[in-house]
Amino acid sequence: MAKILPTAVPGLQLRELHREDAAGYHELVQRNVAHLTKLGDYQEEVAAGAEEFAELFAEPVTAPVRFGVFLDGELVGRVDLVPVDPPKYGLGYWLSEDATGRGLATSAVAALLDYAGTELHGTDVFAGVTHGNVRSDALLERLGFEVVATFDNYRRFHRTLPRD
Ligand SMILES: CC(C)(COP(=O)(O)OP(=O)(O)OC[C@H]1O[C@@H](n2cnc3c(N)ncnc32)[C@H](O)[C@@H]1OP(=O)(O)O)[C@@H](O)C(=O)NCCC(=O)NCCS
Repeated sequence: MAKILPTAVPGLQLRELHREDAAGYHELVQRNVAHLTKLGDYQEEVAAGAEEFAELFAEPVTAPVRFGVFLDGELVGRVDLVPVDPPKYGLGYWLSEDATGRGLATSAVAALLDYAGTELHGTDVFAGVTHGNVRSDALLERLGFEVVATFDNYRRFHRTLPRD
């Protein structure tokens, strides 16, 4: 059974991505190539074929960390926890361009952070944002992240998660 996480927005939920989501996910990525690569990010994502996503989504994981963002049952984006150094996690998120501007990504990431804290017992979450990605900066600031380091190409944001 795929793990499902509710969000505060009616009709918006996160569902763990599985092999059978690969074709739909690939199609969503391909519809959003310009949106995703505007600042030079997501090069591997847009170059990948559906079969690569099928292999990736079929990989066994100890806990679900890769979720599709579904609005009224339709895949509109993706949010990820990257278990680089648990209980510290990296964060990834993107939304189809036609679903932006409505607070959906903020709600999706908020639900993911809640899950990271309560179910994965995460303590810290980090995100890297390329300079100029003002919408991503704004999303993280809305959710209480702070800049902890500045590099040539990006800034690192950090937030602690509430203890259980
Ligand atoms: C980063 C990204 C997810 C942000 O998307 P977004 O639509 O701006 O974020 P949200 O869905 O949270 O929506 C926020 C917008 O909705 C508005 N909004 C409406 N209701 C809202 C609510 N209840 N809560 C929060 N925002 C709300 C906000 O004012 C904001 O609008 P503005 O940009 O005009 O100020 C999106 O731009 C994206 O996918 N970019 C490409 C991939 C990417 O860069 N990913 C991040 C890599 S670090």
